[in-house]
Amino acid sequence: MTSLLAATTYDVAAVRADFPVLAREVNGRPLVYLDNASSSHKPRQVLDAEREFVEQHYSNVHRGVHTLSQEATDAYEAARERVARFLHAPDAREVVFTKNATEAYNLVAYSFGNAKAGSRFALGPGDEVCVTEMEHHSNLVPWQMLCERTGATLRWIPLTDGGRLDLTDLDTLVNERTKVLAFVHVSNILGTTNPVDVLVARAKQVGALTLLDGAQSAPHQPVDVAALDVDFFVLTGHKMLAPSGIGVLWGRRELLDVMPPFLGGGSMIEVVQMAGSTYAPSPERFEAGTPVISQAVALAAACDYLDDLGLERVHAHEQLLTARLIEGIRGLDGVQVIGPDSMHLRGAAVSFAIEGVHPHDVGQSLDELGIAVRVGHHCAAPVCRRYGVPATTRASSYLYNTEGEIDALLEGITTVQRFWSR
Ligand code: ALA
Repeated sequence: MTSLLAATTYDVAAVRADFPVLAREVNGRPLVYLDNASSSHKPRQVLDAEREFVEQHYSNVHRGVHTLSQEATDAYEAARERVARFLHAPDAREVVFTKNATEAYNLVAYSFGNAKAGSRFALGPGDEVCVTEMEHHSNLVPWQMLCERTGATLRWIPLTDGGRLDLTDLDTLVNERTKVLAFVHVSNILGTTNPVDVLVARAKQVGALTLLDGAQSAPHQPVDVAALDVDFFVLTGHKMLAPSGIGVLWGRRELLDVMPPFLGGGSMIEVVQMAGSTYAPSPERFEAGTPVISQAVALAAACDYLDDLGLERVHAHEQLLTARLIEGIRGLDGVQVIGPDSMHLRGAAVSFAIEGVHPHDVGQSLDELGIAVRVGHHCAAPVCRRYGVPATTRASSYLYNTEGEIDALLEGITTVQRFWSR
């Protein structure tokens, strides 16, 4: 029992002390920050690492022979290696730095759109791309645009009433015409964790490439891209303790090295002549222009922080908090979870609806109590449409949240109900 506890708990108060903002008050109350699926806060260790780099080693990378340029290049490439270790990727050159997750999905979709006819990446009429109905707009709209440009057809796996993927017609939706299956690991709005193994197995049967959106999984649980067996994996730094402005596309090297470039410019070339250019291999091929340098260094520090704490323990902690929240909501009349209402295959984002109160009013009333949640369609408008709600209120916990904060939210919900029923 002792060893189980040791494996699943850590000193949350000590962790909280690393995050200066958590000591704040909002509207005269202690801040209860439950908007982590949107963006997380940053610990001193990450802020210090970025500041030290910028103050002591900053320069442009891959462009200079002077000492600072070499130090900056070393730090940038060390960050790539750190992220590769974080993802258990076999090769650091499979890690491409982007500005965010959205750019990473667009990178793949535009690269495929730039492929010459006959290439394994080229799409045209008769080809298909498959996504799911629970995608964030960033892993939906780029594929819609690719299909519009190429004449390919977009298909999607629908949702069950309980917030899961309805896999009844999987073999029809993912078929011999499917070129790409792009899907979310953990839904930002429903909290659902998807069965990656089932989806990847079907994609492999038909020779489709797989892209896994890990924006809501990589910050919260161990990720091993080799074990997941996907072709591409995407994360974003700002949801995992790093600053905004840095994302990652991981892809199998044999794919990245032959995919057409997305953005053209400096750094991504081999030979440039007036009549045409040849392109560097991955990752430089996909990092045109001055890259996101200090943000990459900060992301590496965030990986250190998460791995030092242990993502299994982070995940276990969040599971406790999420179970407490779902259980608490179940005990409240007139409040309904939108998404899985059990802990089976579930992440830390919990969307809910309070009968008779618009989510925007819920969000404002909770803010008056110092509680930060997100309200709206969470950039997943088709999900709201599927469940017949204009928007939801979403609470999403992270490694620094406490059971007391979950209780504060539950109490806040009853206060909101009382206020709006007057
Ligand atoms: N994708 C982020 C969210 O779900 C912005 O809130």
